[in-house]
Amino acid sequence: MKKRVAILISGGGSNMVRLVEDMALRDHPAEPVLVLSNNPDAAGLARAAALGVATAVVDHRPFGQDRSGFEAGLIRALDGAAPDILCLAGFMRILTADFVKRYQGRILNIHPSLLPRFKGLDTHARALAAGETEHGCTVHIVTPDLDDGPILGQARVPVRTGDTPRSLAARVLEMEHRLYPAVLRRFADGDRTPVFLG
Ligand code: GRF
Repeated sequence: MKKRVAILISGGGSNMVRLVEDMALRDHPAEPVLVLSNNPDAAGLARAAALGVATAVVDHRPFGQDRSGFEAGLIRALDGAAPDILCLAGFMRILTADFVKRYQGRILNIHPSLLPRFKGLDTHARALAAGETEHGCTVHIVTPDLDDGPILGQARVPVRTGDTPRSLAARVLEMEHRLYPAVLRRFADGDRTPVFLG
């Protein structure tokens, strides 16, 4: 039986597309069962539908600060798909400890930095400001602490003279598209050996 994967997005969904495309290849241990967004305008929703994956939206805006109400909506949508694994892919909402505990050990996230460096937002600008000579991305298991949790893979890119946050982000994103599918394959096979690229 293939592992059932739900992918949570908020925007373009380029990481989601790579995950879905990789799962379409022969002998992959997982299959996509839902692409779920907090943003009804996420371009990734149309990309998922075009790839034949079921989609759902739980708009976070009507819930205001009521995080548990928003997450109850997420859980209803997810329960319908009965996922074994959740992949956060450009998902821009912070999840409560209760939500994370519900799927403990089964939620993956990709973060655009070499964790534990540069948790949080604006990682590329911060890496440049800090004079880093290398940067990259990390796939980790989600725990209640933001951008924390056991690392399942990292990919490194050099910082080049003249790099801007945009040019660095583009180089990192290319590695995200390689790293996340490689990690999901292993994770779905029950292998927690970290993947290192670059
Ligand atoms: C990108 O900045 C990526 O680094 C991070 O989420 C953002 C959007 O990714 N993981 P995607 O194209 O929606 O997958």
